[in-house]
Amino acid sequence: MPEQKALYLAEKQGAFALGTAPIYKPGPGEILIRVESVGLSPGDWVIQDLGVLVETYPAILGFDLAGTVEELGEGATRFKKGERVYVIPHLTRNFIQLVVFGGAGSVGQAAIQLLKLSGFDPIITTASLRNADWLRHLGATHVLDRNLSPEELHAEIRNITPEYFTTIFDAAGALETQNLGYDLLASGGTMAAVHPDAVKPEKKVEDKKSFFMFADPNIPQNRKLGNSLFANLTELLENRDFKPNHVEVVPNGLEGIIPALERLKSGVSCVKLVAHPQESA
Ligand SMILES: NC(=O)c1ccc[n+]([C@@H]2O[C@H](COP(=O)([O-])OP(=O)(O)OC[C@H]3O[C@@H](n4cnc5c(N)ncnc54)[C@H](OP(=O)(O)O)[C@@H]3O)[C@@H](O)[C@H]2O)c1
Repeated sequence: MPEQKALYLAEKQGAFALGTAPIYKPGPGEILIRVESVGLSPGDWVIQDLGVLVETYPAILGFDLAGTVEELGEGATRFKKGERVYVIPHLTRNFIQLVVFGGAGSVGQAAIQLLKLSGFDPIITTASLRNADWLRHLGATHVLDRNLSPEELHAEIRNITPEYFTTIFDAAGALETQNLGYDLLASGGTMAAVHPDAVKPEKKVEDKKSFFMFADPNIPQNRKLGNSLFANLTELLENRDFKPNHVEVVPNGLEGIIPALERLKSGVSCVKLVAHPQESA
């Protein structure tokens, strides 16, 4: 992966240090700028001194940048390669970037949509690539092939953003996704997984959290969120802000559930199997 030199603020109110960062690959509608000049701003030392504005570390600062257009993402037509540009980067963004492993599952699809509605950006997910268009339709900004090795996925994700993540949701819950997710967490970051914590003990550090999330809306700690979600769900569905699963109705009512569960156990892809009990013989 191509790399560049970068000046990092290593941690909140920490020291600046030189390091390297992957060179960003511009996505659809984006451009890559080669930075030639950086106007130093009091904001830069204020962030370092007071620990304000920036929440994700290590961070690369800079308020006033000028340079040339190096590369154009797909469909980026406003600028030409080599053109001189000025930019105020989205340093103090309110959005939080997020990884969702297992985006094509029922849980993953719901997570992507709710995270999009909550303003997360980018939302990077993993799935079989035949499901990529649907997941982008739901709100994923990047869909990576879940059949890549953990090392390859790590590299692909670092290629999308040089920053580590404060939030990761593992909707697959597999051993390899949980361990990869933990590696991608920033200091202070948290990963929630749909299965009991399987992060290798030797990886565990104090300032990165991983936990098993049980998503029953009826248990006390989830009730408030569950009530608010269900109060809004009808409207979200009616407005198509939340799209339901692809559904396959299995035949033979209650009897049909038995072989359908075997199918579910061996793995379905991007579909919710549904039985109609009234169709029982
Ligand atoms: N903790 C809780 O409260 C809770 C609640 C519900 C479910 N769960 C658990 O969460 C898991 C997902 O549930 P679900 O209802 O979403 O299941 P599902 O719809 O049956 O999930 C199937 C999907 O999982 C994807 N997948 C499987 N392994 C993957 C991996 N290693 N990386 C990325 N994607 C992977 C597949 O993606 P592709 O088709 O794209 O290959 C497939 O589409 C299940 O294990 C379930 O037991 C936990």
